Amino acid sequence: MGATTAFLDWSNVVEAYIDRWIPCNRGFFEAVVLALPDMPDYGPLLVPGAGPGCELPLLLERFPGRRIVASDPSAEMVQAINRQVETSGTAEIVTEVKPLEELEPSFGAAAVSFFTVHTLRNPVEAILSQARAVRHGGWSAVVYFPPIPEPGGPLDALYRAARVVRPKDPPDWELRLCDAVREAGMVPLTMETLRQTWRFDTPDDFRELMELLPHIRKIREKVGEESYEAMWKAWSNEPGLVEDEDDWVGEAAARFVLIAC
Ligand SMILES: C[S@@+](CC[C@H](N)C(=O)[O-])C[C@H]1O[C@@H](n2cnc3c(N)ncnc32)[C@H](O)[C@@H]1O
Repeated sequence: MGATTAFLDWSNVVEAYIDRWIPCNRGFFEAVVLALPDMPDYGPLLVPGAGPGCELPLLLERFPGRRIVASDPSAEMVQAINRQVETSGTAEIVTEVKPLEELEPSFGAAAVSFFTVHTLRNPVEAILSQARAVRHGGWSAVVYFPPIPEPGGPLDALYRAARVVRPKDPPDWELRLCDAVREAGMVPLTMETLRQTWRFDTPDDFRELMELLPHIRKIREKVGEESYEAMWKAWSNEPGLVEDEDDWVGEAAARFVLIAC
């Protein structure tokens, strides 16, 4: 496994991830899949960090008949994809248990990953690893939550509340992304911000969503219960969610980056 990215294990949250995160992120999947360019004729579409694979049916629709290689280092996540493939009888999807750092170089016609690179220790290196797995002439697309959230919304509110436990800002790796892509001999084509409305029954549902993330669980372990609760208290004073008739509503922003390989 590459030294630059840590494999944070998502295996214990597969079902909860499907139940809680997928409804939040489905709108992002749909917007991105529509924005993907056509693929070169040779080679498969690589989908690293595919988790339980909920983006795969949309990709199959967008690229009918093309082979899709979906991978994830969590065997439990890959089992969830395999169950989906068995139920649907889809012959186009093959799966692999592996991190994106171990993708075979220049194998794919194109690659797309959703909500994976920002969870790794070195997102820029992860984005380059994924792009190197695509042959010259293809493209690589990544979708992630930016390290500094867009202003407004619950992610920005949590980012600001996290100052209780983390007084210094985390590194803004996005600033060096385009240069790193060019230095690697590739071309950044698109860097777009996508927005979706997230709806929750109560603000606590947002907290539960976040607590499924391994890096939030790590913060809890690292700072201890008292500081961790203080962070959520600070968040709840200004949660970036507004109550409408039935729900608590807020905007989430994700980045869509497309690279010519
Ligand atoms: C937030 S989930 C995203 C899953 C799916 N793409 C989605 O959007 O629903 C992040 C996924 O990244 C996987 N992951 C963790 N480390 C990884 C690595 N080094 N390479 C590829 N995937 C990794 C996790 O196992 C997890 O399934």
